[in-house]
Amino acid sequence: MEAGGFDYISVNAEAWDNRHDDQLAAARRGWSATEATWGIFAVPERTVRLLPDDLDGKAVLELGCGTAYVSAWLARRGAAPVGVDPSAGQLGIARQFQDEFGLAFPLVRASGEHVPFADATFDLVISEYGAAIWADPHRWIPEASRVLRPGGALIFLGNSTLLMLCVPDEDGQPATAQLLRPQFGMHRFEWPDDPTIEFHLSHGDWIRLLRANGFEIHDLIEIRPSPGATTRFAFVDGGWADRWPCEEVWRARRAD
Ligand SMILES: C[S@@+](CC[C@H](N)C(=O)[O-])C[C@H]1O[C@@H](n2cnc3c(N)ncnc32)[C@H](O)[C@@H]1O
Repeated sequence: MEAGGFDYISVNAEAWDNRHDDQLAAARRGWSATEATWGIFAVPERTVRLLPDDLDGKAVLELGCGTAYVSAWLARRGAAPVGVDPSAGQLGIARQFQDEFGLAFPLVRASGEHVPFADATFDLVISEYGAAIWADPHRWIPEASRVLRPGGALIFLGNSTLLMLCVPDEDGQPATAQLLRPQFGMHRFEWPDDPTIEFHLSHGDWIRLLRANGFEIHDLIEIRPSPGATTRFAFVDGGWADRWPCEEVWRARRAD
């Protein structure tokens, strides 16, 4: 157990250090893409519209950047991103693609719960399946609030609350049309076939946590895949995701 109840950070970082080949292929798709796409069904930005219109010159922190293709998309739109991730292995893939694509920005090894930046440094904090699901929200939301300038934006995407209630415990089994676990008290998720630890909250708990940390909530985007879209992930299929949101994006603003 690490100090202060952070027992999960090294467990998750080590697991991500060992995820190489799939991540390499996903990184190549991401870094090569001409338009940002979001989530496991790769829904285009023109449909989801989660990014601010004006990114030019904006200081961006990607919390749990992994292979950093999101930061690459933002850099190409004129932003100045910094990618942070606790996994040396994932940052190694990110550096490999920075070299290959000739696009450099800082990559820092740290977890989303504690980042080495001064207060009010960034205009935007973003996470696509990074800190958004792998860090304890009661730790990383206050840290995001600390490093955002007043008026700055927080955008994060992860599995929907509803999906987390409907996914079976067994690895590789897709979400069902039944509620399999309680919503009340949902927070820390540990799976029997997997050593990793995820975090997912109910919508009410997200709203209270964001507001308690100085955020105004602008939107909760429920992502619906494009017709016929497929995913390489086994935990949900297109039929389910066409009926219910399997992913959601919170958009919030750091109050002045
Ligand atoms: C699915 S990847 C998401 C990043 C990126 N979108 C990608 O696909 O490469 C999940 C990332 O979260 C990172 N992660 C794990 N624990 C974290 C924590 N406590 N804070 C921030 N990121 C964390 C992992 O190391 C991994 O690189």
